Amino acid sequence: MRIEATGEFSPAWRDDAFWAGTRAPLRSSTGLNPAAYTDPNFFDDEQMQVFERAWVCVGIAADASPGRMLVRSVGRRSILITRNANGELRGFLNSCRHRGTELYDSDCDVASTLRCPYHRWGYTLDGALKSAPHADDIPRDAFDRADFSLASVRVEAWGVLLFACLDESTPPLREWLGDLQTRMAGYELDDWQPRHSQELDIDANWKLVSENFQEYYHLTWVHPELAKVSRVDDHYRYQGAGMYCGQTTTPVSGDERDDWLSLPPADGLDESDAVSGRFVAIFPNVLLSVLPNHVFVMQLDPVSPGVTKETCTWLLPKSGADASDEAFEPTRTFWLDVNNEDIDIVQRGQRGLTRGAVPAGPLIPRFEEPLHRFQGILADMMTKATMSDVVIPGGDDSSEAARLGAGTNPSPAAVDSR
Ligand code: FES
Ligand SMILES: [Fe+2]
Repeated sequence: MRIEATGEFSPAWRDDAFWAGTRAPLRSSTGLNPAAYTDPNFFDDEQMQVFERAWVCVGIAADASPGRMLVRSVGRRSILITRNANGELRGFLNSCRHRGTELYDSDCDVASTLRCPYHRWGYTLDGALKSAPHADDIPRDAFDRADFSLASVRVEAWGVLLFACLDESTPPLREWLGDLQTRMAGYELDDWQPRHSQELDIDANWKLVSENFQEYYHLTWVHPELAKVSRVDDHYRYQGAGMYCGQTTTPVSGDERDDWLSLPPADGLDESDAVSGRFVAIFPNVLLSVLPNHVFVMQLDPVSPGVTKETCTWLLPKSGADASDEAFEPTRTFWLDVNNEDIDIVQRGQRGLTRGAVPAGPLIPRFEEPLHRFQGILADMMTKATMSDVVIPGGDDSSEAARLGAGTNPSPAAVDSR
């Protein structure tokens, strides 16, 4: 299934020396080499090593509704996602088993058959070839339809998100997500409904967008308004075993700008979830902000080394899904304001990395530890030949629990005793 690299090209990042600053312990670590953000060859390798082996977010789970067929890109591949007659998710490479034609170029409704536009071969929603015009009228040897099902791709939903994975050897999604499933269980995210979405083109590498989301070092200067409700001192690490980097803000309430809390909270949250924000970057490409009353998702699709498509989706809990547009608007506007500030700074980051390309400096431990973890995962995926050699990070160092919080969903009371 994987597209293998061709040629003899042997770039620096196949060498451990390229990752020395990333592999160093946190307190002596540095950021990534600028080439990781700007080099077209790095980008191509990353598509193959990371995006064609990871569980990649390909949308919102609710998009994959019965009767709907989705067309999504994963690495250099195009895939189709549908639900079969039993409502189960199915994924396929978007290529006909006759002569390879692209089957669909955009999302659409399908009743029961996927059809190739070229010679009208038809496939069931499970990918089985069920019709091939004239193939029965004109006998030929060795044509068993069972041999020509669509090539399947793993697709799974978790919470509000839809994931796909091209590599059969990658661990199951539940292992990829690790304890995040436990941490998020109280929100019952399966029931949350998408309210609004929009796409943005950002002139920056996808990793810059993710890394910016992961650290709150920049909060005071880039988001002076957000800093009033998401105070630096209220941020804690939020990372157990799993392919994710995260922080939590607790309490998330504010006294000066509280418009992201204007909607009512979801029913049934425990005392920690009810007052916290969970900010999680699931490796590689989805950024999840879970608040008591809404979820804001940013899905990152790399377009080129310096361009990323960001799809933003706001979701509301089942108990608050009928909020009026007027009630929802402050939440939408809040995120657009914050996101615009982030986009300005990451685009500036991309320009500096492209035109300056100076060696990376030190990561600041308290604030940038998630980047160290993220870049460590990246280093593994870029250098390991097989997914069994890629390490799923463990939980945070418990020796810092008293100061930073390391339990699953630390309670506000525990946090206050820091
Ligand atoms: S290529 Fe699809 S039916 Fe011929
Ligand atoms: Fe930010």
